[in-house]
This record gives sequence, C-alpha cells and structure tokens, in this order.
Amino acid sequence: MEYWEQRWQNNQTGWDIGEPSPPLMYCINQIKDKQAKILLPGCGNAHEAAYLMQQGFNHVVLLDIAASALLMAQHKFKREIEEGRLTLIHDDFFHHHDSYDIILEQTFFCAINPDLRRLYASHTSNLLKPDGVLAGVMFNCEFNGGPPFGGNIQEYYGYFQPYFKVVHFEPCLHSIAPRAGREVLINMVKN
Ligand SMILES: C[S@@+](CC[C@H](N)C(=O)[O-])C[C@H]1O[C@@H](n2cnc3c(N)ncnc32)[C@H](O)[C@@H]1O
Repeated sequence: MEYWEQRWQNNQTGWDIGEPSPPLMYCINQIKDKQAKILLPGCGNAHEAAYLMQQGFNHVVLLDIAASALLMAQHKFKREIEEGRLTLIHDDFFHHHDSYDIILEQTFFCAINPDLRRLYASHTSNLLKPDGVLAGVMFNCEFNGGPPFGGNIQEYYGYFQPYFKVVHFEPCLHSIAPRAGREVLINMVKN
C-alpha cells in the first residue's frame, strides 16, 4: 500500500496514458449489457471508467489500494457517484469480496508481484459470477525488473486454466504505439 501511495504522491505514474486506452475501449464496445456489474481493479486514474460512463454503463466499481488515486476519481466522477452508477473502493484487491459480471484488466496484473499471479487468477475467478468474464490486456514481453513485471502467454495459461473454462489470448491490434506488439487481448470465462 505504501509503495503505491508514494508513487501516486510523487507523480510517478508513467503507466498513465491520459485517456481511455484503445484496447480497453475495444473490449468495452463488445459488452452489450449496460446493466453488467463491472470491476476495474487497480483502476488508477480510471480513464476507462469515463468511457464506460459515456457508453451508459450503470454498475461500475473502481478499486485501488492507493487513497490518492481514489481521491482523484472522487472529484472526477462526483456526479456519477451521486447517481449511483459508479462506486469507489479503497482496498487491496486480494482482500476484496463481491460478485461481478465482468472484470476489466489493464496494467494491474503486471503491477503486482509475480508470486501473486496464481492468486490473482483464483481471486478474479472467485469474484466473478458463473460465466463471468475477465477481459482486457496483458503484456506479452519481458521487462528489466518491475513493476511492470513481464510475462508470456504460456506462463499465463498455467495460472488461469484451473479457474476458467475459456482462456483465450489474441494479438492486440489497438495498442498505443509504445505498447504495440507487446500486449495481448485476454478473454477468460469463469468455470
Ligand atoms: C500500473 S498502475 C495501473 C493503473 C490503471 N489500471 C491504468 O492502466 O492506468 C497499477 C495500479 O494498481 C494499484 N494497485 C497495486 N496493487 C494493488 C492491490 N493489491 N490492490 C488494489 N490496487 C492495487 C496501484 O495503486 C495503481 O494505481
């Protein structure tokens, strides 16, 4: 918690692209049910939540371990929070318990310690309703050190297959230029 809070307070947020990311917009455009309950874990500045709100989604939950990130979201989404369309949760993802139709992943999986990846897979599955979906993007490349921590599809299969009946990766054609060729789209359906 302290590590991430420090990064937010020191403006060390190099991951933040300042707008909804094209791959996540692509994923969101596939979601037909505007009543779907959607979680953005490690939401950061939550640009994708702005896009979800624009698109008429009504049950969006933003969760982050850093209070500073959520304070910004509190200002940015004041109206939507009052309308009850958006909820903010300050918590460690691994301590959070609820039930979602969809979890949207972007640069959260790569931010956590790789030792926690199997737990990430089981916990996302636990947080999803039957047939719930984990979608978004993951890096398919290595980094020096981290976070972000890199990885590859073969490794990811091992984590997710025990908990998801569909574990699907495909090339991401919508990445921003600095991430082009280094991201994969993910689509996983809970067991
Ligand atoms: C690399 S940033 C990504 C932010 C956002 N998803 C984006 O793409 O701009 C990772 C975020 O996850 C949050 N975070 C890290 N560990 C967490 C945990 N265990 N539970 C909840 N949030 C966490 C950090 O505070 C940070 O905002």
